[in-house]
Amino acid sequence: MAFPALGAGNLENGQKLAETHCARCHVIGEYNKFGGIGSTPSFRSLRGTPNGIERFRTFFARRPHPAFVSVPNVPRWTNLLPYATPFEVSVEGIEDIIAFVQTLK
Ligand code: HEC
Repeated sequence: MAFPALGAGNLENGQKLAETHCARCHVIGEYNKFGGIGSTPSFRSLRGTPNGIERFRTFFARRPHPAFVSVPNVPRWTNLLPYATPFEVSVEGIEDIIAFVQTLK
């Protein structure tokens, strides 16, 4: 699959990050069309919401993510024990994910 890069982020890396970290809960696109967790909104539908891209940019601060996502040099919002497998994503990584999200129709 080849998509033109729309933003500053690296599309391929963003797709890889989304497949690795987000696809276990979210339907991220063709990759796991019938996957994800039923109650979790798909990337496509999130992207279509008002401020969709902004939501992705700040997803780590939006519930439920603060419990299991950390960003280097960004203080965690909560010290609750993670109830889902924790992972770390960098600010650049988030821009990459946004580049990927922008390719979703
Ligand atoms: C453990 C499950 C899980 C993982 C992993 C996960 N999410 Fe989510 N995410 C959710 C759930 C559940 C919601 C819906 C929350 C709600 O509507 O209250 C959500 C909502 C969102 C939203 C919308 C937030 C809002 O306030 O509008 C964005 C954006 C998002 N996720 C991005 C991501 C990205 C990017 C990744 C991977 C880097 C990711 N998520 C990984 C469970 C997860």
